[in-house]
Amino acid sequence: MDLQRGLPLLSQQYKALFKKNFLLAKRNKKSTLVQLFASFIFVFLLFCSQKGSKRSYAEVTDPKAAVSFPIPPCERKAHIRKPCFDFVWSGNGSATINTIVTAIMNNNPGRQIPLNKVKAFRTQDDVDAWLLNNPRRCPGALHFLVRNKTVISYGVQTNLTSITNREDRTFKFQIPLQLAAEREIARSLIGDPNFSWIVGLKEFAHPRMEFSSSLDAMIPPFFLAAAMFGFVFQMGSLVTEKELKLRQAMTMMGLYDSAYCFAVVFLLFFLFQINMLSFAFMLSTFIRKSSSSTTVGFAIFVVGFITQMVTQFGFPYSQGTAMKARIMWSFFPPNLFAQALHLLLTATSNPKGVAISWSKRADCPQSPDNYPPDNNDCVMTIDGVYKWLASTFFMWFILAVYFDNIIPNASGLRKPLFYFLNPLYWMGKGGNKAKEGNIFNCICSDPLLESVTPDDEDVLEEESHVKQQANEGIDDPTAAVQIHGLVKTYPKAIKIGCCRCRVTPPYHAIKDLWVNFTKDQLFCLLGPNGAGKTTIINCLTGISTVNRGDATIYGNSVRNSIGMSNIRKFIGVCPQFDILWDALSGQEHLRLFANIKGLPPNSIELIAQNLLDKMRLTESANGRASSYSGGMKRRLSFAIALIGDPKLVILDEPTTGMDPISRRHVWDIIEDAKKGRAIVLTTHSMEEADILSDRIGIMAKGRLRCIGTSIRLKSRFGSGFVANVSFSRSNDRQAPPNEDTVTETHHGAVKQFFKYHLNIEPKVENEAFLTFVIPHDRESLLRNFFNELEERKKEFGIADIQISLTTLNEVFLNIAKKAELESAAAEGRLTTLTLTSGVSFQIPIGSQLVRIPDSESTEHPTGLRVEVYWDQDDAGDLRISGHSAEMPVPPDAQAIVSSSNSNRNSGQRGLVQATVIDPSFLNRHD
Ligand SMILES: Nc1ncnc2c1ncn2[C@@H]1O[C@H](COP(=O)(O)OP(=O)(O)OP(=O)(O)O)[C@@H](O)[C@H]1O
Ligand SMILES: [Mg+2]
Repeated sequence: MDLQRGLPLLSQQYKALFKKNFLLAKRNKKSTLVQLFASFIFVFLLFCSQKGSKRSYAEVTDPKAAVSFPIPPCERKAHIRKPCFDFVWSGNGSATINTIVTAIMNNNPGRQIPLNKVKAFRTQDDVDAWLLNNPRRCPGALHFLVRNKTVISYGVQTNLTSITNREDRTFKFQIPLQLAAEREIARSLIGDPNFSWIVGLKEFAHPRMEFSSSLDAMIPPFFLAAAMFGFVFQMGSLVTEKELKLRQAMTMMGLYDSAYCFAVVFLLFFLFQINMLSFAFMLSTFIRKSSSSTTVGFAIFVVGFITQMVTQFGFPYSQGTAMKARIMWSFFPPNLFAQALHLLLTATSNPKGVAISWSKRADCPQSPDNYPPDNNDCVMTIDGVYKWLASTFFMWFILAVYFDNIIPNASGLRKPLFYFLNPLYWMGKGGNKAKEGNIFNCICSDPLLESVTPDDEDVLEEESHVKQQANEGIDDPTAAVQIHGLVKTYPKAIKIGCCRCRVTPPYHAIKDLWVNFTKDQLFCLLGPNGAGKTTIINCLTGISTVNRGDATIYGNSVRNSIGMSNIRKFIGVCPQFDILWDALSGQEHLRLFANIKGLPPNSIELIAQNLLDKMRLTESANGRASSYSGGMKRRLSFAIALIGDPKLVILDEPTTGMDPISRRHVWDIIEDAKKGRAIVLTTHSMEEADILSDRIGIMAKGRLRCIGTSIRLKSRFGSGFVANVSFSRSNDRQAPPNEDTVTETHHGAVKQFFKYHLNIEPKVENEAFLTFVIPHDRESLLRNFFNELEERKKEFGIADIQISLTTLNEVFLNIAKKAELESAAAEGRLTTLTLTSGVSFQIPIGSQLVRIPDSESTEHPTGLRVEVYWDQDDAGDLRISGHSAEMPVPPDAQAIVSSSNSNRNSGQRGLVQATVIDPSFLNRHD
């Protein structure tokens, strides 16, 4: 199939990523709504607070005098309680004052004040006492004192408590009381009740004015909060995608790095948000866990909030501050944003409303308290902020891409510090990351791997064959993958905990691997957990770098960036752990990866449909991946691996977690898929390996331990052939009374026959059958032996004889055991063996035959031995499952690990370590 390339592929990938992001946003409705509407809610709150707090005054050029100021009804005062009084007064007892107060009530302009709306007291203290006991019942009080016939003094007391901004207490309550008292006192003293006392009050002429309250200080933080919501969410989703290795999966399918970056960036279009987005992208390169991203996001918000406050107070955008400080300050986008808002606020509070227009963006705003403008203190205009924001956007974006490349990804992979100097990178062919480990780590300090010659003849032969091809420069036409001395070392890591620093040593995950994977064949990689299977796959797919050696896939080297970008076009990978978006459906996953792979757009729908059919996922094609069962997810991952008809399919434990029916179905698909392509499969199911594989390689501890067809491995590493002899039992009701004796005789005869000819005892024995394990070295005797047994079937009372090879499971266990023994011997890892007799001693993990310490006696001068049986626990570690009866040690038995190097590492203190005996003598003696 012809895949898209170059620009059309890049554009196809953009579209697919946009669609993916759109679908994710649509599916995660809650978070998208919060993300979208948070900004609206903030701006709405801001609008409300502005409405409530703003006071505006229209322009007044010819102010008119106000002349009539009546005492208003008490109910007009805000928050007054009923019944209320228009005013209260003191001085009761003086006839003159009584007359004055009556005149005040009767001559109130426009409204006569009723009697019940006025309260009289004798003294000022009485008034104060009443006011204290009756709060909010009266807006004002008048106090009169007749000093002599020509002097009457008065005092005005008003409730000046500010309840709302809109209530003008002075003009509404204080001045009317004052004017009424003065008027009536004057009339009383003059003795003319109609004496005119007109006072006019006139405001200044002024332009239109708008006054802001202290709430205005909250405007920049509100905008910042609105913008920061997007920032925190975006950073969260970037880190989550990284954490779930989704990005790695897309890269594996050939996604261009640049497509990924721009798809994210174009989601937001406001300048500040774009700025914060690139800032988020830059920060996300340092964060591995999505849980930390939210914390960091909010920390940035808090820091932004504080620096914004500082900016509002004029730092550093004023003349007195050094240029350096201003530049440093401007790198943090919220500071520029704060300055822009500060400028806009200053400009909008100007009555002339200049400085907001686009044409005036480069002018300094004129504030009402700086009128005429004093440009000395204006060091950054809106235009300057725009330019800074545009520059910092590019700066953060470039830094984000740079850090993304040089900081190790989830597989510890990164590009060199000066990768951008490599022209290949700019040709779009430097997609794979090259170096390993921390930027400050030096991989050269890792210990070199010692070269070990394989002890298995088949592995040695494969190695020599591949080495010879490599030396002669032969490109084997039958080989799909050629692995040449591959070494993968995970560098030492420094883990900083809360109280201490832990250094993990470098780890050789693959140790000098030489192997070919043949075209049109399925190569099955087996091995216990941690053997290095996934690491090989990671090296082949470019997820991990290779430390030494090389691997070529259809002639393209994984160490070469051009080779790697070619490889990505024709490989399909089903990773060990499903890398799927919970919110996308199976069908959408297939479409997305088909687009990333560059399949012709018009064929994608059909291909997705066929793959869903093939994987029996059609019914749940539109269901979200989060609702899929474990097995369904595996099938979807497998389907993704088959997109684009890849020439090499790599399946890392594809059937893990599947039910037997699905598993068999997937086996059929794999069997089908074998035609015309190479498949590398890892599995922990020996049955699967047995059925599907053309060739099997068993790994342990980073080395290939054996290689060959299933039959070859069974015959070489199994304990031999298993012979099952079943005996005929008479169904006749009138069976002879001595039948048991007859059976015993038959059993005895067969046992003797096996002992005599093959020198073996039965492994399992019961009334109906005997099971013998025949070691391989007796293979040559088998033909005559079974011929004779067949002839004497009747004589021995044999009903049937079955012979089979031992299982792959046993081969696997033997190899794992051997590898464990090797490493236990090397590392000196010990475990305690307690015999049924109660004796306890230490043995190296994995040892088969051990001499019981201090068991020498006159009867057994060489001591006693036991055979230890091992199985593996869930973690793949060997554990003791039992032991044989105690038997004498033959005099010619060789010791492999002697008890001299005892009590190392995990050994239990006080226990003696047993000597391990070479099991090869078993074949000679048993
Ligand atoms: N990023 C890493 N850093 C350090 N060590 C690692 C890293 N990845 C893997 N390893 C180590 O490399 C060894 C091989 O791991 P790998 O995943 O290849 O095993 P595997 O054979 O696939 O095992 P399994 O059957 O459990 O999948 C393990 O001991 C593992 O701890
Ligand atoms: Mg694995």
